[in-house]
Amino acid sequence: MSNRIFLRIRNITQQTPEAVSITFDKPENTHFEYKAGQFLTFIIQKDGKEVRRAYSLCSSPITDELPAVAIKKVQNGNISQYMTNEVKVGDILESLTPMGIFTTDFVPDNQRHLVLFAGGSGITPMFSILKTALSIEKNTKVSLIYANKDNENIIFKTELESLEKQYNDRFKIITVLEKAPFFWTKGYKGYLDTSKIKKILDSLPKVNIRDTEFMMCGPQPMMRVIENAFKELSLPLDKLKKENFSLTPEESAEGKVKNDIITTNNTNTKEGFEIKVKYDGEEHTFKVPPQKTILEVALSLNIDLPFSCQSGMCTACLGRCVAGKVHLDEEDALTPKELAQGMILTCVGHPISEGVIIEID
Ligand code: FES
Repeated sequence: MSNRIFLRIRNITQQTPEAVSITFDKPENTHFEYKAGQFLTFIIQKDGKEVRRAYSLCSSPITDELPAVAIKKVQNGNISQYMTNEVKVGDILESLTPMGIFTTDFVPDNQRHLVLFAGGSGITPMFSILKTALSIEKNTKVSLIYANKDNENIIFKTELESLEKQYNDRFKIITVLEKAPFFWTKGYKGYLDTSKIKKILDSLPKVNIRDTEFMMCGPQPMMRVIENAFKELSLPLDKLKKENFSLTPEESAEGKVKNDIITTNNTNTKEGFEIKVKYDGEEHTFKVPPQKTILEVALSLNIDLPFSCQSGMCTACLGRCVAGKVHLDEEDALTPKELAQGMILTCVGHPISEGVIIEID
């Protein structure tokens, strides 16, 4: 079964001056399923080259009939400019099937507190997650801490406010604005920091920490602040899931260049190691030299493994190492638990032992 799908654009909605949401028809003759919080990896032909970009689905698989993504225009970001300015209704875009591990299990009997930190377009997967949780889990509370540059750039503002009215006993939005109007009193002004995070968390419904789950998605500086606040406030970091933006260096000063972060620690052999990759019903055996990643070698052999950012940020290339050992140049996108379960990213992964076997869903 191919992991590529074709999606016809049904609708484009300008959400803010810099962001659009794009709704697609359900692909025909293709099994299309996704979990709230997952993303699509678009494959775009640009200037004679194939470029991939991952964008989170903002639609809920439960409450929305059609799949949709939201995209914010990024200065100097060719692809985000293309996706926000050039594509039009009726266009057909190629994508990989939905993927990603930034999700949670939605169970009707759950009685938990989902605390979601979103920064700017980091709202996209959160919008999907919160709609799904509110709909499926009738006894779950959801708190959204939503940081933005200013009032004009709040993506899904109207929809979120109407959900807050609809679920007024279970859904609360806490707005943080970097540049708030002088008389604005609806939330917090300035950047998130530890003292604001403490105040906000203290103001939320009191739910046993065991039944609380934290998720965050936003710019790297914001996520670092939240992680540091968790450490300072002695909150359990293993309950904090995060989704990295998979921006390229051209698209973000925070972006990472693949070759900058690949530091080859694999000095075991000049030859590298032979590995086995199981994917899409096939088994591929090939040798990975120390200075190459597993994905690089696979692509050079025309093995069509899934990938997007190629910098260890998006998890599109996620696999599980079921035998042998793999070193990752970048582990930030995976939680300690996922690493302990053998999850690896082929785009930053190097085998460092004999007998490596990797399974990719
Ligand atoms: S392709 Fe994005 S993490 Fe590997």
